Amino acid sequence: MPATDRPAQSVMPEARYEQLVQAVVDYAIYMLDPDGHVVSWNAGAQRIKGYRADEVIGKHFSLFFTVEDCAEGRPERLLRQALEQGVAQDEGWRVRKDGTQFWALAALDVIRDEQGQIIGLAKVTRDITDRRDSALQLDAMRAQLFQAQKLEALGQLTGGLAHDFNNLLTIILSSARLAINSQDPGRTRRMLEHILDAGQRGTQLTQQLLSFARYRQLSVARISPAEVAGSIRALAEHALPPDIELVEQVQAGLPAIEVDAGQLQMVLLNMMFNARDAIGTAGRIDLVVDSVELAGEVEGLQGRYLRFDVRDDGEGIDPQVLPRIFEPFFTTKPFGKGTGLGLSQAYGFARQSNGAIRVASQPGKGTCMSLYLPACPDDQLQTGE
Ligand SMILES: Nc1ncnc2c1ncn2[C@@H]1O[C@H](COP(=O)(O)OP(=O)(O)O)[C@@H](O)[C@H]1O
Ligand SMILES: [Mg+2]
Repeated sequence: MPATDRPAQSVMPEARYEQLVQAVVDYAIYMLDPDGHVVSWNAGAQRIKGYRADEVIGKHFSLFFTVEDCAEGRPERLLRQALEQGVAQDEGWRVRKDGTQFWALAALDVIRDEQGQIIGLAKVTRDITDRRDSALQLDAMRAQLFQAQKLEALGQLTGGLAHDFNNLLTIILSSARLAINSQDPGRTRRMLEHILDAGQRGTQLTQQLLSFARYRQLSVARISPAEVAGSIRALAEHALPPDIELVEQVQAGLPAIEVDAGQLQMVLLNMMFNARDAIGTAGRIDLVVDSVELAGEVEGLQGRYLRFDVRDDGEGIDPQVLPRIFEPFFTTKPFGKGTGLGLSQAYGFARQSNGAIRVASQPGKGTCMSLYLPACPDDQLQTGE
């Protein structure tokens, strides 16, 4: 733009304004009379909405809204709000001349003359369909990653579970056979009890598996840490080889936490699987749940937190590798064994739940993963054992 030759004055002549508004093609800028009829139209409006000036001037601006929005009085509501409050903003679908729709971000501002009389409204509309699409895509991608990770965890579980179901069925079948041939009512009764017990354990297993597999949106609820640890142990046991011992230590009277239980389960399960993979054939995994008071030493967190430790005596993590383990798709495992998604998911989950995740590892000695989650503030530590 040429430099102005009137340095002190910054008032632009009207014709220049008109030029400026006309030159804008990324925004639809137009004026409405106080009843909502179009009085001016710029190049951006033509580009975004598809109408030429002579096709829309004089028409009511509800022309740009969807049938549904018109039916529920959205254009009038916006107009009224702008007239009463001086400004109105809106985000939603708008209709082009050719009938296609775009996602619009719109602002409506009242214009007054020197006497304060309303002479019209300035309408600025932007097409943000792309921005909205990429936000939606990102959401969908996150959901997909979550789902992929869950399938991986399920796959890891089912092998072990099939084995355990087989054991339960063996108990049921052999007890039934013994009971059928027995003359002793006491013995028959004991056999039936075995059958009942095995059947109940089987039901519990299926329920745990089903509640884990069910797809759910992030659903935050208040849960007890002991309950979480219990269900993790019940599930993880099936995925561990016989020579890996799982030891669970949960402090009594821990305060509740408010998180998505399904995601927490998945995160802890993945930590268990990582521990298992680091151990190989024989070793020990500790699941320790405790409550701690933080004063900024863990990522600046302050206050009461629940700490879930998953500790193993496996191969440990190479210091060169350590800074990368939370990256998505980073894995040191062979193709088909690792996806590199578990810890990135764990990290995201900790973040989203206002907590943190920490790792301490010594090559050759083992690793401890600690997940910190905020304790419910109004949940007093219950005293007494
Ligand atoms: N307990 C652990 N012991 C040793 N290495 C670990 C442990 N947990 C994670 N790691 C390392 O971090 C990497 C990333 O873990 P993760 O994100 O769960 O992906 P994946 O298990 O699919 O490889 C692993 O490949 C491994 O090298
Ligand atoms: Mg993993």
